[in-house]
Amino acid sequence: MKIGIIGAGMVGRAIGKLAVGSGHEVMLSNSRGPQTLFSLSRAIGCEVGTVEEAAAFAEVVVIAIPLAAYRSVPVAPLEGKLVIDTDNYYVERDGSIPELDAGETTTSEMLARHLPRSRIVKAFNAIIMDDLEKGGRPAGSSERRALPLAGDNSADKAIVARLYEEFGFDAVDVGLLAEGWRFERGRPVYCVPMNASGLKDALAKAIR
Ligand SMILES: NC(=O)c1ccc[n+]([C@@H]2O[C@H](COP(=O)([O-])OP(=O)(O)OC[C@H]3O[C@@H](n4cnc5c(N)ncnc54)[C@H](OP(=O)(O)O)[C@@H]3O)[C@@H](O)[C@H]2O)c1
Repeated sequence: MKIGIIGAGMVGRAIGKLAVGSGHEVMLSNSRGPQTLFSLSRAIGCEVGTVEEAAAFAEVVVIAIPLAAYRSVPVAPLEGKLVIDTDNYYVERDGSIPELDAGETTTSEMLARHLPRSRIVKAFNAIIMDDLEKGGRPAGSSERRALPLAGDNSADKAIVARLYEEFGFDAVDVGLLAEGWRFERGRPVYCVPMNASGLKDALAKAIR
């Protein structure tokens, strides 16, 4: 697949590296421009571009920026595309967002409102990137960890589940995008290593 990544920090780099290792074509981008990503492109073996170029290049776009910047994500180039939302809400970094503080919405539903003609899947947000890079294990391994995802379209979730699988993780489908609160920051499963059955149990017991 052609995967465009908006954000080239901890998350963009980790997913980019793993995706290249799994045979995907990757274009990384940030707000400062591809000239700031020259060394990274060599290290990862990916292309680099502007945010608009990464969006246009991609079949699947990964959003990996501080949540506070989500409104800067370009709308038109992402129309009709699968968009994987990795963002989390940290008030100390993103400032206070009253809707989230009140539990009225989720970070991914906010992104979905901003990108009304894109198909959003919430994924890769509930694992520390060092664990994502080093924690993948073959299917059936007793140490194999599971990761949650949520979205409104089964075919899109299957594509994201395949990426989890390629990176060495089981996928647990949490349901519709609105259920994504179950694995946001502060929930019991957030960034805690669990296998698939443990993760399903903990997700079911989450209290909003
Ligand atoms: N770190 C983790 O282990 C982890 C795990 C799961 C989820 N997350 C979540 O994933 C998101 C990214 O986290 P991170 O740790 O990768 O952050 P980070 O290391 O600070 O990287 C953020 C990246 O986004 C770019 N960026 C910032 N504003 C942008 C904009 N408006 N347009 C395009 N690019 C922009 C930054 O580059 P420029 O400033 O040069 O544009 C930088 O490359 C956050 O919401 C975080 O909470 C993090």
